[in-house]
Amino acid sequence: MRQNMRLAIACDHTGLDLKRTLIAAFPGETWQDLGTFETDAVDYPDLAVAVAETVRRGEVELGVLVCGTGAGMAMAANKVPGIRAAVAHDTFTARLAREHNAANVLALGARVIGSGLAVEVVRTWLASTPQAGRHQRRVAKLSAIEERYRR
Ligand code: RB5
Repeated sequence: MRQNMRLAIACDHTGLDLKRTLIAAFPGETWQDLGTFETDAVDYPDLAVAVAETVRRGEVELGVLVCGTGAGMAMAANKVPGIRAAVAHDTFTARLAREHNAANVLALGARVIGSGLAVEVVRTWLASTPQAGRHQRRVAKLSAIEERYRR
């Protein structure tokens, strides 16, 4: 049985209900909710970077982001060095994103997926572990790309 995890989570206005559902579905984890807390429209990059930087600083192990599609959140989070954000709306992708790609942020689209499946996607992702060997080598190459473009 794995230890409970420290997780950061944020959403934009489209993801507020799903974010609340996810936090409630995993009461055994320690959630750091970085917003948004209202239904007023907000800009997803601001929320994505808040979670990404919290993961990067090592204050939490993993981050979860919810917007309309997951795409914008993942794009923004992936601009932060050390972040590997994956969009997953099925459990197979969620598992391999963690096992093969060591995704440390999961992005979900509240306009794409129902809450029941979203909970299972998150459950699968949290229960999966990055694999060593060839997958570790490939993930190291992701980091090397960041280094290549560092100013
Ligand atoms: C907001 O309308 C929407 O663009 C946002 O939630 C997200 O889907 C962006 O990727």
